[in-house]
Amino acid sequence: MGRLNDKVAIVTGGSNGIGRCICETFAREGAKVVSFDVNELPYECVNVEGYKGSVTDREAVADLVSYVEDKYEKIDILVNNAGITRDALTQKITEEMWDLVVDINLKGTFNLGQAVGPFMMEQGSGSIINIASVVGEYGNIGQANYAATKAGVIGLAKTWAKEFARKGAGVRCNVVAPGYTMTDMMKTVPETVLEPIREKTMLRRLAEPQEIANGVLFLASDEASYITGHVLSINGGLRL
Ligand SMILES: NC(=O)c1ccc[n+]([C@@H]2O[C@H](COP(=O)([O-])OP(=O)(O)OC[C@H]3O[C@@H](n4cnc5c(N)ncnc54)[C@H](O)[C@@H]3O)[C@@H](O)[C@H]2O)c1
Repeated sequence: MGRLNDKVAIVTGGSNGIGRCICETFAREGAKVVSFDVNELPYECVNVEGYKGSVTDREAVADLVSYVEDKYEKIDILVNNAGITRDALTQKITEEMWDLVVDINLKGTFNLGQAVGPFMMEQGSGSIINIASVVGEYGNIGQANYAATKAGVIGLAKTWAKEFARKGAGVRCNVVAPGYTMTDMMKTVPETVLEPIREKTMLRRLAEPQEIANGVLFLASDEASYITGHVLSINGGLRL
């Protein structure tokens, strides 16, 4: 028996990195997974299908939700994972850099939650997980835009934990806040920045995507049935 048998999940940004690992992990545990990504699904995995579109496109989000509802008649899990960085010191962040990061990371998460949360309420169950970052918890030089969005998705999850549980709906909303994780996103970070991070991390290394996906799996599953509004920090002890 898989831990997500018969569950239906939407995962944003499932073509690459942490999102891909979440999709593959969910599928292994018995879920039917739809990845919503601007890029095609570049891999094959039984029970993972790609649905192309951007989290910033509210029409595409509505079409995605209709598609999943029509096909499976339920949505048990939503993982808001799609995210990007455009790093610079505050005085060098352009309006475009600010808007792009806020649009995808924060408004994109809102778009999906607004489309799926009320449906889960009517259904009487569901689990939403927003992917934040250690940077949203403790700030970071050169990431004002990114940090603001990651703190923002924590605020969204806590609000949804309250709103979507109204009238006994029982929808749970939680956050996974990863530390630095070995994905393409890290390719833009110079080794001179990464080495001090490893040193400051109690476990002296970056995370593997699977170590983040394991936490998301737990919160998505019925094993976490009494956990809502929680921020699960998976950062190897970088921030204690
Ligand atoms: N890698 C890390 O160290 C790290 C640390 C903390 C948090 N995170 C967060 O984890 C999440 C995944 O990061 P990752 O490292 O796997 O990144 P990644 O760049 O490897 O993958 C991101 C995925 O999101 C997709 N995407 C980008 N814009 C999109 C949009 N508008 N609509 C739909 N999909 C879109 C991309 O196509 C890609 O498949 C992000 O929210 C990121 O902020 C990552």
